[in-house]
Amino acid sequence: MENNVVVIGSTNVDKILNVKRFAKPGETMHISNAQKSYGGGKGANQALATARSGANTTFISKIGDEGDANFMVEDFKKENINTANIITTNTAESGQAFITVDENGQNTILVYGGANMELNEEDVNKAAETIINADYIIAQLEIPTPAIIRAFEIAYENEVTTILNPAPASKLPKKLLNLTDIIIPNETEAELLSGIPVVDSTSMKQNAEYFLSLGIKIVLITLGSQGTYYATKEESNLIPAFEVSAIDTTAAGDTFIGAFASRFDMNNFNFEESIKYANKAASISVQVEGAQKSIPLEKDVLDI
Ligand code: ATP
Ligand code: RIB
Repeated sequence: MENNVVVIGSTNVDKILNVKRFAKPGETMHISNAQKSYGGGKGANQALATARSGANTTFISKIGDEGDANFMVEDFKKENINTANIITTNTAESGQAFITVDENGQNTILVYGGANMELNEEDVNKAAETIINADYIIAQLEIPTPAIIRAFEIAYENEVTTILNPAPASKLPKKLLNLTDIIIPNETEAELLSGIPVVDSTSMKQNAEYFLSLGIKIVLITLGSQGTYYATKEESNLIPAFEVSAIDTTAAGDTFIGAFASRFDMNNFNFEESIKYANKAASISVQVEGAQKSIPLEKDVLDI
């Protein structure tokens, strides 16, 4: 059966610059191409990733009433995402992200929140019915925390599983962590929250123990080219990544999270299968430039 997933989060227009290496402070550098604009935002990317992996997907987000983000809403509709809870505002521009990608496929990202930062609890209340009917709700940290907390409260009261991707890395109120069932940080985000650098299997376990001690049921730490570590109170394992040559890792984490949510079964805890599938989807995304256009369809993940 298809998972029913609600994603609440950001929609950004990504402005990408390809560079040989990152500039040092005070340095001026030539670049090989003019700036390119693509669809992005952690929320939008994760919604596309769940939809492309076959999940029934609803996206809750806020965009400006003019400019580039509107083309994305049309794209979401074409990809069968329910856009009824994407709100347009005339008091802020759509979110934007300024991304530099170096020759090794690594990136730096600066995010301007814009309309994303106007998403509020009242907007979330209007989407309550949709949240109540979901299997999972996924949030990241590019929208105001009160909106995420409200969405997770509605989910929690109705036994909808909450998934938190604490990105971009930031300290979190205890209240939000207490409402979280599954947390999916990368290594940097895990360290910022737990205070424990992720360097080896012992520190992975210590990180997991930290999150589990807060009442979170499932911890997944994404480890880039190393793969993904998962832990519950009963089991843990590292599922290795697929060996590929990465050209742009932007949205690797988003692709992983959406693909995982499309496959994971809370009644069955099918970690090996769902994480292997999500690692595979993310390994495809790192071989293609950009965020949304790099996210694969289910059939492309299953084909290789
Ligand atoms: P980003 O912020 O770049 O979108 P992230 O830091 O949130 O990504 P990562 O831990 O880098 O997330 O990557 C998420 C998943 O993507 C990994 O668990 C892995 O499955 C896959 N992945 C990332 N980088 C590579 C790579 N170089 N080769 C193969 N798979 C990769
Ligand atoms: O995770 C990748 C995303 O982070 C980009 O699409 C950019 O918009 C930033 O939000």
